[in-house]
Amino acid sequence: MSEHEIKVCSLDELADPGAKEFEFETAQGKDYGFLVCRDGQVSAYVNSCPHTGAALNWAPDRFLTKAGDQIMCGVHGAIFRIEDGHCLAGPCEGRNLTPLPCRVEDGAVYVSVKGEQA
Ligand code: FES
Repeated sequence: MSEHEIKVCSLDELADPGAKEFEFETAQGKDYGFLVCRDGQVSAYVNSCPHTGAALNWAPDRFLTKAGDQIMCGVHGAIFRIEDGHCLAGPCEGRNLTPLPCRVEDGAVYVSVKGEQA
């Protein structure tokens, strides 16, 4: 399957700390990912909890704890490290979110995804 890069948004559209969901095409159809920004660092993950595969956010773009220092799954409350998506507590403790390669260039955020080119 080919890998290609999509421009998700400009860096200005991301709060710090903050998160933003996005969609992309795969051979199987649409899939969803999210960006997380904290202390100027941006990471991207597939929006699928390792516990059940459900989307993590309980409302649009709401992926973080109240303090904004960790990712929280809105379904059963699993807590993940922002930097590497490792689950620190909850029903999937010790497992990991699926990272997506991501970079910032000229104020825009790009993510590499596997699948069909849009
Ligand atoms: S689906 Fe995420 S903690 Fe259960």
